[in-house]
Amino acid sequence: MRHSSRSKRFELLSKRDINKETYVEPWPEAGLIVADSPYDPQPSLSITAGAVVEMDGVAKADFDALDRFIVSHALDLGIAEEAMAIPAQEYARMLADINVPREDIARLVAGCTPAKLTDIMRHLNVLEMMMGLSKMRIRRQPANQAHVTNWREHPALLAADAAEAALRGFAEVETTVRVARFAPFNALAILVGTQTGRGGVLTQCSVEEALGLRLAMKGLTSYAETLSVYGTEKTFVDGDDSPWSKAFLASAYASRGVKIRFTSGSGSEALMGRAEQKSMLYLEARCLLVIKGAGSQGVQNGSISCIALPEALPGGVRAVLAENLLAAMLGLEVAAGNDALASHSSIRKAAKLMLQFIPGADFIFSGYSAIPKRDNLFGGGNFDAEDFDDYNVLQRDMQIDGGVQPISEDEALNIRRQAARAIQAVYRELDLPVITDEEVDAATVAHSSDDMPERDIVPDLEAADAFMAGDRDFVAVIQALQNSGFADVADNILEMGRQRIAADYLQPSAIFDADFKVQSAINDPNDYAGPGSGYRPTGPRWAAMQAIPQAKSPEGFVEPHTGAPLSRLVEIGPASKGRQNEILLAVGPAFGRALTTTIGGLAHEDVLKAILSGIAGEGMIARILRVYHSSDCAAIGYVGARLSGSGIGIGLQSRGTAVIHQKDLAPLNNLELFPQSPSLTLATYEAIGRNAARYALGLATVPVAVKIDNGARLRLIVKTALLHRRETDEVDPEKPPQELRFDWEPDL
Ligand code: 5AD
Ligand code: CA
Repeated sequence: MRHSSRSKRFELLSKRDINKETYVEPWPEAGLIVADSPYDPQPSLSITAGAVVEMDGVAKADFDALDRFIVSHALDLGIAEEAMAIPAQEYARMLADINVPREDIARLVAGCTPAKLTDIMRHLNVLEMMMGLSKMRIRRQPANQAHVTNWREHPALLAADAAEAALRGFAEVETTVRVARFAPFNALAILVGTQTGRGGVLTQCSVEEALGLRLAMKGLTSYAETLSVYGTEKTFVDGDDSPWSKAFLASAYASRGVKIRFTSGSGSEALMGRAEQKSMLYLEARCLLVIKGAGSQGVQNGSISCIALPEALPGGVRAVLAENLLAAMLGLEVAAGNDALASHSSIRKAAKLMLQFIPGADFIFSGYSAIPKRDNLFGGGNFDAEDFDDYNVLQRDMQIDGGVQPISEDEALNIRRQAARAIQAVYRELDLPVITDEEVDAATVAHSSDDMPERDIVPDLEAADAFMAGDRDFVAVIQALQNSGFADVADNILEMGRQRIAADYLQPSAIFDADFKVQSAINDPNDYAGPGSGYRPTGPRWAAMQAIPQAKSPEGFVEPHTGAPLSRLVEIGPASKGRQNEILLAVGPAFGRALTTTIGGLAHEDVLKAILSGIAGEGMIARILRVYHSSDCAAIGYVGARLSGSGIGIGLQSRGTAVIHQKDLAPLNNLELFPQSPSLTLATYEAIGRNAARYALGLATVPVAVKIDNGARLRLIVKTALLHRRETDEVDPEKPPQELRFDWEPDL
């Protein structure tokens, strides 16, 4: 029965970010299933006279283009029989077992068919897959890739953002275009920008392949990952491609010293209506074998632009991790997705990230949006420039290297200005449309395109066309920089060109470190073998990750020790029990001495006045004493109650925490407790005094209402700890409570 009224809670839930997404039940016939489609084949392989005659239930005569490519280029037939005979669960256990070295698994996996690879994943939960990825990832130290674009395609802003991304530690920076004709200038801007920020950052401009190759040959880019692969033949055919054409293209790039990786990932086939009833993971296993067969050193996978589709389905995020793991098992460098917007919900997007962040990937993001989402021409970016601080804190929290580091505002401003001025100089020297000083200034401080002045794009586009048509290339850029006082940037770009010829960075999973040294799976192979092994951020790297500009020295949290105690508060000797019409106010050992204000910034003097006014207002008399043997609020209040003639005492710690106590209650019980000292105002303290008096008078008393601020503890816990430490430093276990005289006139 449908209820006629709405639940307020369900109504609220329906408006939450998580409910902006689409959820759908699996439909294998349409390929809307992330793993284990009933139509997925069982693993099998028959080899006769050194040739495959049947694979995954398909006879050689019925092979499609992918099957043929895989059996002839990807499968190691020398190991295949042994590999296929090992049960899938056995592989799953090896992946999760720290005692099995990655090489043993990699050797066997080379003989596994797509269905076999898919079958292995069936046995693994995400935790086990993460163990697997931390072991199978091919490069030891994880890195990160950034997206740098803006919808205005402003060269100074592109250069400034690329420089900041480089300084933040991204090892690769990718740009693209809104208008294709901008390609050479966008590529140029991020080249100049990155090499200003840090020499050795690899750059890419994601455009149509022929244009991409020409940009690379002009020396404007150094890697490409636009080589898309799909898991069914029909999807390839629809794109006028085949595994062979992709392999050829990859060789074209590599032969010119350009690092390449392919792109694949769950959901593309279903999205194009060509899934052939197969699960996304099975089709991805086929893609990965095609990629390996094509000789690519790596892959950008993890659904990539299709991420919303597996996420609409049950198990989608798990399956995306499975495809990252499969790629690593096959010895491929993995740029592990997390690039396109994966959720409206910050909880969900962060949770998804953890599956790659915690184990580490060669590139944890195949495109962290180093610019705000609205400037991202790649479809948003799951994490963006507005999440930089969040991301740095995640690294710091978990001591996990996410491939970036915090920088200060000054460092950002400096590098952005240098990069904007460098691209300005290049434009001037190459007779390209002028970049004004005003544009440089704007790019230096900009967050997004919105902060940039309008720029006439028509002359830019004409100049870009002429640049592509002409024979000027990166050498002209180097000269321009050299001639205009940017020798260091010129040197870095020249070195990028030199590295193109050395081509050492075509090794698997290669990036450059800060000294232009290649770091790859060859010279920095992953050696994770359980606790205490593998890469961990330590030493200077861990120090850099910790050093978020927001972190303060502990001394900054509490008022300095002024040594100027409250002169109006005078100790007059040991406290004794008083008369019946009194309330005893017991304060902590540091009160009015080592500390003179509460955590909320109220002067101790004013707090005393407020409480005494409250007591006086009900016609009672107040006496004050300072407790020395304890800094604990309950203990202080309890002493007050026991020495109070009326049996009612107020305990007050120096940081402002208060309690109303009664002598017959257990020490840790109380009449009213005010633990949220930062929320307490002078009016609250007065009400505390009033209530204490009313309890003593036996009057009906409404507990003091205090505003609940759940964030207070979060914001102030360090200060609380340090204030309490100072109070505790004043404790003298032997010293009895001392009576105080407070030289005070009530302002009536
Ligand atoms: N499979 C294959 N190619 C993909 N791309 C994005 N997602 C996928 C996927 N799941 C490609 C796009 C574009 C670039 C961003 O990557 O086609 O070229
Ligand atoms: Ca990318």
